[in-house]
Amino acid sequence: MPGKVYIETYGCQMNVADSEVVVSVLSKQGYEHTNDINEAEIILLNTCSIRENAEQRIWGRLKAITHLKRKDPRKKIGLIGCMAERLKEKVLENERVVDLVAGPDAYRDLPFLISEAESGHKAVNVLLSREETYADISPVRMDRNGVTSFVSIMRGCNNMCAYCVVPYVRGAERSRDPESVLNEVRDLIAEGYREVTLLGQNVDSYSWQKNGLDTYFPDLLERVALIDPLLRVRFSTSHPKDISDRLLETISGYKNICKHIHLPAQSGSSRILKLMNREYTREWYMDRVDAIRTIIPDCSISTDLIAGFCTETEEDHNATLSIMEWAGYDFAYMFAYNERPGTKAARKYMDDVPPEVKKRRLNEIIALQNKLSARSKKQDVGKVVEVLAEDFSKRSKEHMSGRTSQNKVVVFPAEGINRGDYVNVHIERCTPATLIGKAVPVLPLDI
Ligand code: SAH
Ligand code: SF4
Ligand code: F3S
Repeated sequence: MPGKVYIETYGCQMNVADSEVVVSVLSKQGYEHTNDINEAEIILLNTCSIRENAEQRIWGRLKAITHLKRKDPRKKIGLIGCMAERLKEKVLENERVVDLVAGPDAYRDLPFLISEAESGHKAVNVLLSREETYADISPVRMDRNGVTSFVSIMRGCNNMCAYCVVPYVRGAERSRDPESVLNEVRDLIAEGYREVTLLGQNVDSYSWQKNGLDTYFPDLLERVALIDPLLRVRFSTSHPKDISDRLLETISGYKNICKHIHLPAQSGSSRILKLMNREYTREWYMDRVDAIRTIIPDCSISTDLIAGFCTETEEDHNATLSIMEWAGYDFAYMFAYNERPGTKAARKYMDDVPPEVKKRRLNEIIALQNKLSARSKKQDVGKVVEVLAEDFSKRSKEHMSGRTSQNKVVVFPAEGINRGDYVNVHIERCTPATLIGKAVPVLPLDI
């Protein structure tokens, strides 16, 4: 009799979506999902490998849950996802508490791996696939607000950015059958969901061919948007080298496609971008931002930045600060460069920026972004914005929280409003991270 399964998810949105696939695979075999680690027979950690500290957290977590197994040796612990893929059977050598290891393309094999573990054999499947997209599996939604959800449209990555471990742990890029994407979105709408985020490491290279018909990302995005005008559509991540005017025109053409683009720059220096193998220059990136501003004037832009990549000089760093200032990012994820074993940068370049210099540069980047983020929020004070109510605010049940089309978080009194409602909110003030206001009944003309 299959037991209860508990899953903890680390890393990016892809892993969140994958955990839902995992639970779906296991529930088909009779396993029951639980949010309580203590009552679970199977404990899975869906892991991330992007930076060393992501892996450190997992080692720490394994130590912290070891006692559960000591109390009840029948419990099985599985390490799955990107870190499992990177370390393979080495995990089992290093951590005796782990019973099974499964990479991101091996989730259909989990029932077998678990039964192996239950019969006392350590089990591993870290095979990467060229085809697996889990297209036919309906993910089981967990711990969600019932309003917003992720839908994976592709897996893997072919880009080989010099610093990045993703192509090694997630394998080659492959797109998912558009019909299966559309069906998943329809199911979500039927369950009451009001927003989907289409996920891929580089959505702009989505491509599907059938019966002589090509589907590219703008086509897919448009088809998703046309399903229901009340469904908001977001996507992540765009690669600056591939983002096309056609995509921007599609975004601009539909009110329900959110006016927000995450466009990771990584650096503002063309020399560093070349070393990073990003395949665009500073000028190219600026041209793409100009195109966004022209085609979608009300679009917000966020980014990812890495401080202290190999050979980075003060001049390169200043180029990053200046492109931030120029782009006026609404939001950014910012990291100090962390060498990952096996990547091109680890094999070919010296990690030669001293830690204290990386840290200082990262702090300068963060300080500038705080200024830009605050400016972005202040611009909305006094305006009426359309918000999709997602959930009660973390601080008080009397307030609700949601986001604007531009992906800015808004908090407002919950009275009379339900999850999933569209609300016009008059913004009265802001904190560095949040817009605060009150619902107003009229639909203003400018949205
Ligand atoms: N596919 C997405 C990024 C996925 S990883 C893209 O290309 O934009 C998310 C972010 O982690 C990256 O954008 C990068 O900024 C950061 N990152 C990846 N590897 C890193 C490393 N070795 N050190 C520091 N940051 C890293
Ligand atoms: Fe990593 Fe580059 Fe692929 Fe993004 S595009 S996942 S940074 S290799
Ligand atoms: Fe995502 Fe981390 Fe894997 S960022 S793709 S979970 S390495």
